[in-house]
Amino acid sequence: METSRRDFMKKSTLASLSLGVAATIPFVTHAENTAPADQINVGIIGCNSMGFGILKHHLGFPDVRCVAMCDVDENILNQRAEEIRKTFKQKPVLYRDFRKMLEQKDIDAVIIGTPDHWHCLITVFALQAGKHVYVEKPMANTIAECNIMVNAANYYKKVVQVGQQQRSGFIFQKSMDLIKTGKIGKLRKINIWANFNYGAGPDILADEPVPEGVDYDMWLGPAPKRPFNKNRFHGWWRLSWDYGGGLMSDWGVHLLDMGLWAKDLVKAPDKVLVYGTNNYHEKKARETFDSMTVSFPKDEYVINWDMTAGIQSGPYKMPYGIAFIGDDGTIVADRNKMNLFPEWDEEAKHSKTSEYQYLEGKESHKEHVRNFLDCIKSGQKNACPPEIGRAAALHVHIANIAARVGEPVLNWDDGKNLFTNNKAANELITPTYRSPWTLPKF
Ligand SMILES: NC(=O)c1ccc[n+]([C@@H]2O[C@H](COP(=O)([O-])OP(=O)(O)OC[C@H]3O[C@@H](n4cnc5c(N)ncnc54)[C@H](O)[C@@H]3O)[C@@H](O)[C@H]2O)c1
Repeated sequence: METSRRDFMKKSTLASLSLGVAATIPFVTHAENTAPADQINVGIIGCNSMGFGILKHHLGFPDVRCVAMCDVDENILNQRAEEIRKTFKQKPVLYRDFRKMLEQKDIDAVIIGTPDHWHCLITVFALQAGKHVYVEKPMANTIAECNIMVNAANYYKKVVQVGQQQRSGFIFQKSMDLIKTGKIGKLRKINIWANFNYGAGPDILADEPVPEGVDYDMWLGPAPKRPFNKNRFHGWWRLSWDYGGGLMSDWGVHLLDMGLWAKDLVKAPDKVLVYGTNNYHEKKARETFDSMTVSFPKDEYVINWDMTAGIQSGPYKMPYGIAFIGDDGTIVADRNKMNLFPEWDEEAKHSKTSEYQYLEGKESHKEHVRNFLDCIKSGQKNACPPEIGRAAALHVHIANIAARVGEPVLNWDDGKNLFTNNKAANELITPTYRSPWTLPKF
């Protein structure tokens, strides 16, 4: 039995991490002796939760400076800028309009921490302005936007890192090593689950006037005009179709990405089998589904996704996790830990493989950020380029589309970029941008 250090770090912040509450991390302040040529100047667009967490991870490295910050909510912007001034002794220029920020010449890289409906447009504008991009996951809110981002990144040849940080995480890297070196035998099935209370949504609230200091029209951007409601604003936007895809996309991109990585698949699903419904006992402020069961058949294995919002426990006493099931053993993993449970050989009277256990995992944002910075400097391929972000995002978007149009088996032709058995599903591939915004042409 191989057992690594057993200093298992129990974390109770899973739901809050997904909702983007920045974790408290001990940060070093900027080392003034970094040579200017080695320094990477970053600007951030969307500073509330996750974006700000990612900015702080950047500033944890001595070769990074924050030179610009942008948010359409002045209250958030001022608060976050004050923290950067106090903690890191840096004085970024502040903006409410990201287009102005992108004109600032000394910005090398941009962090995009806005809601998902903005990711495509801001990424393309940033690339056009010559910046590298760290864009949060899911890469975009629709299939067409994902395609545009892949094409734009290839055209401008800048580093685009999608925030699927598990690609840089110890536990999943270990799991992939074990799977790819045959330790669980033939991989046959991957069962993924994600159960989180927040996915059921907040209590219903009336619309209200736009809070002071908020440029709500710029928050909506290309999305349709709607009255202001706190339940569609900071954090909660992920449960409304115009801005996000619910628990399916919020956690799905992270976890399904691991299911694809196990076989190094970087492609959209050909087919999804989907059951999506709303079974939560109470009416909440939510447009997205609270319960979904999805199968993604692959050539040699199948990935199964099962989510139940409004509860927070699951198999193996884990609210979310992945079981990689092979002929000789099963690996069960989350971000913090993994166990390999061997199968028993009844004839030979011994296990078919060795036990493995790693309990030293932690959130891997910092490693993912470092990978981004290193690839800017080295020109090497980064851990999560747009092609990988797109593959994961298309898995969640296609599952959501199937559930929305009520098509239990939906077939996708990636070459033709359309669904072959449902016309209504094709209507959901490309968003209609609200004027004056237009979908970038790539
Ligand atoms: N990688 C992860 O583990 C992880 C975890 C949580 C969230 N996320 C992702 O991070 C992103 C942000 O999520 P969040 O929970 O921090 O959302 P949030 O609502 O808390 O913050 C978004 C911020 O963006 C600002 N914003 C909106 N439109 C803007 C614009 N046009 N210009 C400038 N600022 C704008 C908002 O005012 C707000 O301050 C999402 O894509 C989410 O999916 C990733």
